[in-house]
Amino acid sequence: MISRNDCRAFDETDELAALRSEFTLNDGEIYLDGNSLGPVSSSVRRRVNEVIDEEWGRGLVRSWNDAGWMAEPTRLGDRIAPLIGADPGEVLVADTLTFLIAKLIGAALELRPERHVVLTDAANFHSDIYIIEAMCERAGRKVTMKTIDRDRLDEELSDDVALVELTQVDYRTGESLDLAGITKKVHDAGALMLWDFAHSAGAVPLDVTGADVDFAAGCGYKYLNGGPGAPAFLYIRKSWQGKLRNPLPGWLGHARPFDFDLRYEPAEGMQAFVTSSPSIVALAALDGALDVWDRTSMAQVRAKSLAMTDLFIQLVQERIPGVFEVVTPIEHEKRGSQVALRHPEGYGIIQALIENGVIGDFRAPDICRFGFTPLYLRFVDVFDAVERISQVITSESFRDPRYAIRNAVT
Ligand SMILES: Cc1ncc(COP(=O)(O)O)c(C=O)c1O
Repeated sequence: MISRNDCRAFDETDELAALRSEFTLNDGEIYLDGNSLGPVSSSVRRRVNEVIDEEWGRGLVRSWNDAGWMAEPTRLGDRIAPLIGADPGEVLVADTLTFLIAKLIGAALELRPERHVVLTDAANFHSDIYIIEAMCERAGRKVTMKTIDRDRLDEELSDDVALVELTQVDYRTGESLDLAGITKKVHDAGALMLWDFAHSAGAVPLDVTGADVDFAAGCGYKYLNGGPGAPAFLYIRKSWQGKLRNPLPGWLGHARPFDFDLRYEPAEGMQAFVTSSPSIVALAALDGALDVWDRTSMAQVRAKSLAMTDLFIQLVQERIPGVFEVVTPIEHEKRGSQVALRHPEGYGIIQALIENGVIGDFRAPDICRFGFTPLYLRFVDVFDAVERISQVITSESFRDPRYAIRNAVT
């Protein structure tokens, strides 16, 4: 049996331990929901204050030139690029994720005009499914979305498939899909591959270049800690740039926006996928949040993430055997940075845990989700979280009728 002292010993040799003090965390609370909304860090505060007080406050409209605001979407894209294995000039920060998926689907469909099907995972995040379907309906030719069992992708890859869109780490189960293997299969069938990295960026090492990924997009507010509703990021492989049309063109994706030319002429590179004015204060928060990544590497983060999720699974199995089904794969190469536990009364369990200072979340119909973020979590937190889960289960406090009332955000 692993003891709390063992966990303290793990913390003493943890190379990332010093990063925890960068984050604002409530005393006595264990935050296992960084896979939904990352916490605020001191560099976020510093950078947002700088933008408000100096760039916006004093510089006012001059800052579009003097503070380089126009270049923020591509500059921040270059900061995110190493986290996903991309090169400079291949990532842009803009909009939010669903919008970016829409843009990439619209653009990708034009590259395969003779094909009529977009495949996606029947268990995908609902927003992806809504937007894929809407973009298919608006493709300007007959294109249908087909939702499939992702484990049967091989059987579905006909020569009519234009594009496959998958979420790389399943938001419910935490399963991490084989980026390179699936992308290759899709390419072998003549189709294009679009990955949703919402639960991958900052959580698992990614190599979009090595995997020959065509397109990807991900969130800024989960493992990247960019703040609620933070701008998202989009990846377009260099070889596709200039060949893709942004289906939502706007003035700031124009080659010369201040010519006020009524004929659209796309800017070069990733800038063509900008539509509107960049959200400078929100970008400042994300910019500050990225500072912490200058002090670590995805390899270090991954090693600690696997150690933490292994520990959590082991402790759950040792201390409360038979209570939950561990839905997240045990194999490391198939695991993201979260652990999903199935229980028919999962909603009440999560509510009771939140009252007991363990913040996880619930995904219908029966998944308790716990995210493990190596930047600020300690091994002793993992131990204490399982202790509190065990107390909630043995006391049956989760059956309190108050916990049956569903909040708007679960
Ligand atoms: C897998 C996945 N895709 C898409 C989204 C939608 O993101 P946004 O609200 O930025 O459009 C989310 C949000 O949590 C998500 O988890």
